[in-house]
Amino acid sequence: MLMPVVAIQTVLDGKKEGKSATIRGWIYRKRESKQTIFLIIRDASGVIQCTVKRDNPSWSQAEKVTIESSVVLEGIVKQDKRAPGGYEIAIEKLSVIGLAETFPITKGKGKESEEFLRDNRHLWLRSRRMNLIMKVRSEVLRFTHDFFRKEDFIEVSPPMFISSACEGGSTLFGLKYFDKQLYLTQSAQLYLEALIYSLEKVYCVAPSFRAEKSRTIRHLTEYWHIEPEWAFADMDDLMRVEEDLMSYICQRTAKNCKKEIESLGADISKLKAVKTPFPRITYTEAIEKLNAKGFKIKWGEDFGFEDEKALAEEFGGPFFVYAYPRQIKAFYCKSHRDNPDLVMSTDMLVPRIGEISTGGAREDSKEELLKRISELGLREEDYRWYIDLRRYGTVPHVGFGLGLERLLTWMLDLENIIDSIPFPRTIRRFYP
Ligand code: 4AD
Ligand code: MG
Repeated sequence: MLMPVVAIQTVLDGKKEGKSATIRGWIYRKRESKQTIFLIIRDASGVIQCTVKRDNPSWSQAEKVTIESSVVLEGIVKQDKRAPGGYEIAIEKLSVIGLAETFPITKGKGKESEEFLRDNRHLWLRSRRMNLIMKVRSEVLRFTHDFFRKEDFIEVSPPMFISSACEGGSTLFGLKYFDKQLYLTQSAQLYLEALIYSLEKVYCVAPSFRAEKSRTIRHLTEYWHIEPEWAFADMDDLMRVEEDLMSYICQRTAKNCKKEIESLGADISKLKAVKTPFPRITYTEAIEKLNAKGFKIKWGEDFGFEDEKALAEEFGGPFFVYAYPRQIKAFYCKSHRDNPDLVMSTDMLVPRIGEISTGGAREDSKEELLKRISELGLREEDYRWYIDLRRYGTVPHVGFGLGLERLLTWMLDLENIIDSIPFPRTIRRFYP
């Protein structure tokens, strides 16, 4: 009979030194010398070196075991400075659970092409790198929920099938819904707006879909969207909650995921430096800054990726751009009453990635909203329920959408957004 199984991390923490321990996991590396077989075993928590001597009854099992075979083993834990992690297990009993065929990923990242690893994503997820990224992703989600609960937001579940666009037709995925045409949601926002009339402060973390033709380091066709919406609030409230959320996530991640961040080679000091208040500049100031840097961008034009990166360089951390021209923002944006050319919309930008969130005050006047819908050539009947919200007890309200994967790409210094999600979907990639 084997003893109760412990996580490899428990052994690495030194809690089993000099004692017998049973672990289970997969063969991560294997090396053989005349007298010893070295097996590196991985489980969800970590990796540890284990050794088998030629005179041990487990030698034949150890000889036949292949990379990625699943095993359970028992042995004596010893401190060993030469072993990665500082501890080693001298195997006394080794059983193979599932003998692996020749594993296609033999060399790891840097040796195999990115393309090959993406085609084998279902297997590459076993790498230490993906294991660590997914753990941080889970923690960031936990901190997001903790933040909104602490601020008395109520979590709600919006639909994924929708009948009219939130963010314009050009990035809308259409689908056949029995004999009707429907779409995949781009944002829960319009539904969250309906829910604030009942719950006042709501949020969701849900997938959003964009038929995005862009092939950049920051675009997916399916991503996870963190979206709060709340009533009786203005732009100042909006930016305050947004920067509080961002600094809460960064500070807690820096503290709780120190080991993962360091193993991933990401810069933890950047996260520790995220403190409120964040710098705020207007769109007009941003245009001036860009022109001073030699960019040829006119007032009224939207920023491109390069413009955003150039702007963000100056701040070194997250900051807001607000008060945008109405022609580059969505139909639901509330206009400044003293300057209708501008809308109460704000983007949060970070270095290297540019925009990671968009939010703003929503048009709460029925007349203004109807005017905007007709100006943009949208069909009033598509937004009937949404317009209703302005008919019955309208309130000033705000909300924003933060892309989880863009956030992680920035936080973990990932080269490409693709590595922030287990099964990325892009214009070209939908397998596995
Ligand atoms: O700027 P967007 O389009 O704003 C909205 O959807 C609003 N309705 C949100 C709201 O106010 N509730 O999208 C918000 C964020 C972006 O800033 C970006 O972080 C992320 O969603 N995002 C994407 N992330 C990855 N791939 C894409 N193709 C993305 N498109 C948007
Ligand atoms: Mg945006």
